[in-house]
Amino acid sequence: MSVFPIYRPRRLRANENLRRLVRETSLSIDDLIYPMFVVHGRDTAIEITSMPGCYQYSVDRLVSAAKELVSLGIPGTILFGIPETKDPLGLEAYAEDGIIQQAVRAIKDAIPDLLVMTDVCLCEYTDHGHCGIIEGGEVQNDPTLDLLVKESVSHAQAGADVIAPSDMMDGRVGAIRDALDDEGYENIPIMAYSAKYASAFYGPFREAAESAPQFGDRRSYQMDPANSEEGLREVALDIEEGADIVMVKPALSYLDVIHQVKTEFQMPVAAYNVSGEYAMIKAAAQNGWVDEKRVALEVLTSIKRAGADMILTYFAKSVVEWLEN
Ligand code: PBG
Repeated sequence: MSVFPIYRPRRLRANENLRRLVRETSLSIDDLIYPMFVVHGRDTAIEITSMPGCYQYSVDRLVSAAKELVSLGIPGTILFGIPETKDPLGLEAYAEDGIIQQAVRAIKDAIPDLLVMTDVCLCEYTDHGHCGIIEGGEVQNDPTLDLLVKESVSHAQAGADVIAPSDMMDGRVGAIRDALDDEGYENIPIMAYSAKYASAFYGPFREAAESAPQFGDRRSYQMDPANSEEGLREVALDIEEGADIVMVKPALSYLDVIHQVKTEFQMPVAAYNVSGEYAMIKAAAQNGWVDEKRVALEVLTSIKRAGADMILTYFAKSVVEWLEN
């Protein structure tokens, strides 16, 4: 490479047309998945205090919100359910008329074109708020797999297009893949939350999904934020077990992990721009301390630059508006 004064990097930054031509990364509507929360009841939309602009919707209102996504051109949504009652085994997670099962059916009936992904986990449904069965104060791995399998199959039966296990139990992707295949759902992809870290950035989500653990924390199943090699091993396992899309979560503090996963595996990579990442920008913007649009677009572009093919983000609807103007 030539050096100054032959090479002047500023030449290609001189105007927007030049900048457009040499831009290496672009964020597009095609990259976006919008997460939504669904509750029992009718005509309900409760704004989540720590996530301004995001709501817990009843099924009827969720369908309207889903229609808006289609009109904006957003390819997909991922759904999280808040059950009527919670119990030690998270029964509603795999009930035929559970909140997610109702929501998926309603959306697919009204708007078959929107891709509906479902988060598979137990923490929203269990009274202890952990992602698996508890015995002796510990989350039990293998007995939990049976429940996650039931939950996944019931989501597929309701019409879910993509199954997304977020529980971080060992062996769940393989167990879910087998069960989906046995039930005739061999064409339903699995998007695995593969490198999912025990992160403080999930705080606002736990308000939204009412899923905070009632004792202890999730560090015996979610990953240590200090580890990236372990993240690659988790991704490798999930791919071997049949994951079609692998996810890194959260995104912003884990751009290095996203990059390594993309370069190492050449698989579709999703990144979850989580609730706390959204809330920080919203809060700072409400104080007038940062420019919401510019900061959010910069963050999302950096997630793409790191190697993500798709981003789950609460900013999805705003991004469409921002990109169109
Ligand atoms: C369920 C789940 C969580 C998130 C997605 N799926 C919370 C958690 O693991 O505690 C977090 C998403 C977000 O913060 O936006 N296990």
